[in-house]
Amino acid sequence: MTTKDKVKKYLFDREGSFVSGQDLAQSLGISRAAIWKAVDSLRREGLDIEAQTKKGYRLKQLNPPLDKTIIRNALIDPIKNIDLYLYDSLDSTNTQAARLDQDLDLGNMTCLLAEEQTQGRGRSGKSFDSPKGTGLYMSVVLKPQESHEMNLDLLTIKACVAVYEAIKKLSPDPLQIKWVNDLYLGQKKIAGILAEGSFKEARLQRVIVGIGLNVFTQEDQFDPNIKERTSSLFPKDLGRSEIGALILNKIYQVFYKFSNSQVLEIYKENNLVLGREVTFSLQDIEYRGIAKDINEKGNLIVQVGNQEIALSSGQISLGSW
Ligand code: BTN
Repeated sequence: MTTKDKVKKYLFDREGSFVSGQDLAQSLGISRAAIWKAVDSLRREGLDIEAQTKKGYRLKQLNPPLDKTIIRNALIDPIKNIDLYLYDSLDSTNTQAARLDQDLDLGNMTCLLAEEQTQGRGRSGKSFDSPKGTGLYMSVVLKPQESHEMNLDLLTIKACVAVYEAIKKLSPDPLQIKWVNDLYLGQKKIAGILAEGSFKEARLQRVIVGIGLNVFTQEDQFDPNIKERTSSLFPKDLGRSEIGALILNKIYQVFYKFSNSQVLEIYKENNLVLGREVTFSLQDIEYRGIAKDINEKGNLIVQVGNQEIALSSGQISLGSW
């Protein structure tokens, strides 16, 4: 191991805490000048290492645990007082939100977050891999408001746009939406949305918007079956709590301030499927066509031969991937 790698490992093992130059030098058996040189070169590689005269060196902690105070402090005024529930481990934040709402009749925009999910759920009965302490696994409960009609159309699309708007600047690579509920960096999925509505006497009485975002999950922490197709955001300066707050702020704006046409414009402009060849199956028949448009209900319009098919949900695959 080179001196630089030894210093890097030492600091990573003590991420977030100061270590004195003397301790470092003694433990690694190298001079303080050599340590300074290594720190200088690690900084040039982009590591955020703080140096203080009396305390020594500290690698800024990139991924502290979720923190309710940090989240609340970063919320915009209209949602400053929403209820926040934070769990170390849950089966699924969507499932827990439904259970809690049954018992407590939760307020609008109540948010549940978990450090890990043991039975994270995705669309179409799939699971959502949720390794501990590495991602944002959150559910937001929406209730009908006097001033705001709630309907199922565009629910997933609005949630996708909210997450897109919240995190689009946090990666140097272009973020894109894949119809209907996924966010991608390049050809790898980094987030998915599961919006679930609940009805009483044919009226929509509650929606739970579940968001799963891989933030710092490393490739080897994902299930081997998905790791080739999955990645994480890896933001440079923000932790998961701050990103959670950004998402909540955008959920409020997109659901209560944006018009449907504004939402659809952002959704379509940044969608990676439009104009491309897609395959999908309907009642066990495989189709191949060109994704032409997304209509006002959020359906994907696919040109198959001389026929147009409107897809309302389900999985599509991209021909060229
Ligand atoms: C998908 O990829 O099809 C959707 C994934 C949605 C995952 C989130 S994580 C928080 C919430 N709780 C769940 O069980 N699922 C959603």
